[in-house]
Amino acid sequence: MHVPDREAEVLSQVPRQMLRPESSSPPGPAESLCETIDACLDRYTDLQDDCPGPLRGAIRYSLLSPGKRLRPRLVLMAAEACGGTAEAALPAACAVEMVHAYSLVHDDLPAMDDDALRRGQPTCHKAFGEALAILAGDALLTLAFETMAKGIEPPATAARCCAELAQAAGATALVGGQADDLEGTTGPCDLAQLERVHRRKTGAMFRVALRLGAIVASASSTELEAVDQFGTHLGLAFQITDDLLDVAGDPDAVGKQVGKDADRGRLSYPGITGIEASRQRVAMLIDQACAAVAPLGSRGAALIALARATVARDR
Ligand code: IPE
Ligand code: IPE
Ligand code: MG
Ligand code: MG
Ligand code: MG
Repeated sequence: MHVPDREAEVLSQVPRQMLRPESSSPPGPAESLCETIDACLDRYTDLQDDCPGPLRGAIRYSLLSPGKRLRPRLVLMAAEACGGTAEAALPAACAVEMVHAYSLVHDDLPAMDDDALRRGQPTCHKAFGEALAILAGDALLTLAFETMAKGIEPPATAARCCAELAQAAGATALVGGQADDLEGTTGPCDLAQLERVHRRKTGAMFRVALRLGAIVASASSTELEAVDQFGTHLGLAFQITDDLLDVAGDPDAVGKQVGKDADRGRLSYPGITGIEASRQRVAMLIDQACAAVAPLGSRGAALIALARATVARDR
């Protein structure tokens, strides 16, 4: 595999503990889903023809770095929970991770959160420069839609998935929430407003991850509604937990700078209501998420386990 010099050099600086643990025991279900997703992401970003080497390096550096792959795992698990196969949902899973990776690259830029560390390694703009980081984000976002348009069958399902993901990533959801988040630096905010920002900047991508898995699996309306509600509750719980990690997380484990929300005057759940009330809100949302998938019976068990593990995380 061709690895541009800068990518290899920067990857060599990744702290060992941030890389996926190497184990001699066989991979568990989570690791094996991550391996399947990573192999697919690797293939989709091979980009040998006509993609400038430094741009390819920045794209792969950001996408293939050791994230939790939570959203693509949710796509695959939702597909299986609705009676479909993970294999058919892989293009949607990879597309969701591409949009997520782009959103992180742009979120870290000096004009946004101005962060230096992501997934335990220098942020894309620190490693490749600001202009290339912006372009890598642009490329990841567009590649997501190409991946689904070409990879999902039948074409009508592909078109529906593209429309759903575009909406979740767009001005009324992710991008709108990010814009509101920047505004948060200028004035006071109540919990209802904060939840609205969190639901859009983060929750929408969780919700669409579940919806895409269900849609590819030709889910019934009851199944689609069940996983949609699960994703809505989990997405908000996830961002509150991210806010908690920013306040009380271990930077080595988290893999990004901590304590920055307060420094920047950013909207954060513990910043408004304190740590204990934030933890209680997370627990309530996870109970609601688990209750939402009751109609799926035992097919919802893997989603429930993932939701509980996600909010107990340290990174
Ligand atoms: C980070 O998401 C951005 C938020 C929405 C809080 P993750 O914590 O899922 O990031 P990775 O993909 O594991 O790095
Ligand atoms: C980011 O929220 C949400 C995105 C859409 C990327 P944060 O700004 O809190 O995410 P981190 O803490 O940088 O990962
Ligand atoms: Mg941000
Ligand atoms: Mg940020
Ligand atoms: Mg954060």
